[in-house]
Amino acid sequence: MSQKAYITTPIYYVNDVPHIGHAYTTIIADTMARYYRLKGYETYFLTGTDEHGQKIEEAAKLRNKTPQAYADEISGKFRTLWDEFEISYDKFIRTTDAEHKAGVQKAFQVMFDKGDIYKGEYEGHYCVSCETFFTDTQLVDEDKCPDCGKLTRLVKEESYFFKLSKYQEELIKWYNNDEKCVLPRGKKNEVISFVKQGLRDLSITRTSFDWGVKLPASMNDDKHVMYVWLDALLNYTTALGYGTDEKNMDFWPATMHLVGKDILRFHAIYWPAFLMSLGLALPKHVAAHGWWTRNGEKMSKSKGNVVNPKEVADAYGLENFRYFMLREVPFGQDGDFSQKALMDRINSDLGNELGNLLNRIIGMSGKYSNGVINSKDVTTFHENELSAVDEILKNVENNLLELQTNRYLEELWKVLSIANQAITVHEPWVKIKEGKTEQALALVALVSNILARVSILLHPVMPKTTMTITKAMGFEINTASYDKIVVRKTFLDEFTIEKVPPLFPRIEEELMAQPAETAPVVAPQQPAKKEKKETKNESIITIDQFFATALKVGTILEASILEGSDRLLKLKVDLGEAEPRQIVAGIREYYTPEELINTQVCVVANLKPATIKGLLSQGMLLAAKDKEGLCLVRPEHPRQSGASIG
Ligand code: ME8
Ligand code: MG
Repeated sequence: MSQKAYITTPIYYVNDVPHIGHAYTTIIADTMARYYRLKGYETYFLTGTDEHGQKIEEAAKLRNKTPQAYADEISGKFRTLWDEFEISYDKFIRTTDAEHKAGVQKAFQVMFDKGDIYKGEYEGHYCVSCETFFTDTQLVDEDKCPDCGKLTRLVKEESYFFKLSKYQEELIKWYNNDEKCVLPRGKKNEVISFVKQGLRDLSITRTSFDWGVKLPASMNDDKHVMYVWLDALLNYTTALGYGTDEKNMDFWPATMHLVGKDILRFHAIYWPAFLMSLGLALPKHVAAHGWWTRNGEKMSKSKGNVVNPKEVADAYGLENFRYFMLREVPFGQDGDFSQKALMDRINSDLGNELGNLLNRIIGMSGKYSNGVINSKDVTTFHENELSAVDEILKNVENNLLELQTNRYLEELWKVLSIANQAITVHEPWVKIKEGKTEQALALVALVSNILARVSILLHPVMPKTTMTITKAMGFEINTASYDKIVVRKTFLDEFTIEKVPPLFPRIEEELMAQPAETAPVVAPQQPAKKEKKETKNESIITIDQFFATALKVGTILEASILEGSDRLLKLKVDLGEAEPRQIVAGIREYYTPEELINTQVCVVANLKPATIKGLLSQGMLLAAKDKEGLCLVRPEHPRQSGASIG
């Protein structure tokens, strides 16, 4: 029987649309699921939405919707985004699913029958935003939530309690005996000290609102609905059929629950205690990652600086974005999103190191051997490089198993640099001139084999890009090729490499508009906003510098929507040249294709072409943008296509 892996993301609240933080958790989880599949594990990957509770009930009310209609709408947005992101989930659970609700009731019954649930009265403070109970001493400034800073509400109501205190010692034992049960280590220590301060029993039902799972009928107590965290945490088991059709329960216990640091306490304390009460095994790892900021600032809806993951993926490429997120931050620490950092990663790591290696292989083998690559002499000439590579790859996967994705990628890039350096050092072009063809060909084969191994190991992070690379080398990435090339280190059979267009075209300038509030400013201490704007990044240029930009009048001949992007339009623009230019422009929110056709625009005509969403874009439209939105800059009267501006 094959080994099993069960990977989960948190289920996301439906009071917010997906942002970069959600995308990060989901992409790490997706990477882990793909990694286990690559290794041949039977893998189950779960994500979904958390739809009950006071917060959702109130958010729906504000919008004049039923909680269910509201939950349907936002849950759909999460699901659509994950589908667009090709997230390889096996199940998308919703806590409003009938099977889930039945499973939660069953769990309540089991815990009750075990004597772990009793009725009492809760008196204390509740943060609706975090759906969390707090005692007086935990509050900040007497009435504010210690986690999110919002005002808490005083609650006094009848409640059922779970005997959390009973499990304190058993939890400590788990932390002590199972070194990697909570990752990373620093976070685990925080959990341990929290538990050692003493655990209070947990209120697990509410009476003051309705939007939640009812107690089991046998309890005969209609007033109560379950506390949303009890309901939510149980999703990890109900998704496998707990309490209903238990056919997938053999995936339990979870290999890895991925969560953000904000909800570690629920996953590393409450959840294992619930599982102990239910008599179920504990998860192998609960792994908590850090927080994303943008340009160094906390993201918030009110600031309007929340990073929309779809916009980033559309502008910079989904897999480049995945690579960036996993490479940029050490797991557990906070990370900062900026376009500059993303562009650096794409241009240097991906373009200069990975893409360039493939190009060099295609170029060299094309010149020396009609693209044919044969590994027969690699060991003879390159024992040193091979053992350096083996040394790094020997333990590299442990990084991934501990979620140290940044270190994992760093190590893979060290391997790529061994290959790139080998080319520089051995100068195969000189060898060819000297008639040492065998040696030149062995070098090309060496670096091809290195690229093959790295591509397979990179596959969970960049599934499609790596497939493009290995298909050019004549093989697919799957468990068999992983076993053969990575585990058994078998050399590639003779193959003829195929040409592929550059995988990572250089990105010269930011592809997304900056949010107004976080747009870079000249000096950090500029006072009033107005003044900031006038001086923003403006330097004096000469007339020659101005004329270095070729501005031309263009006539839009065709315009169409770019599937899979809600921002971009694809245009054919006549600049009076032999062929119209293809231009991809981020104006879809402001113009329909129909209203653009046969109108004129101003085009930057000598901009280096860029690839946007896989399409070549040969120019940029001039547009003006402010709070009201965006409008194109156009000639006052029709001019000839290609007329110069300036
Ligand atoms: O907490 N940076 O749902 P939620 C990084 N429903 N990650 C972030 C982030 C940021 N700025 N913001 C959010 C809930 N996240 C509960 C979970 S599970 C049984 C119930 C990520 O919609 C991070 O993973 O508030 C965090 O844990 C999750 O989104 C919270 O999503
Ligand atoms: Mg949250």
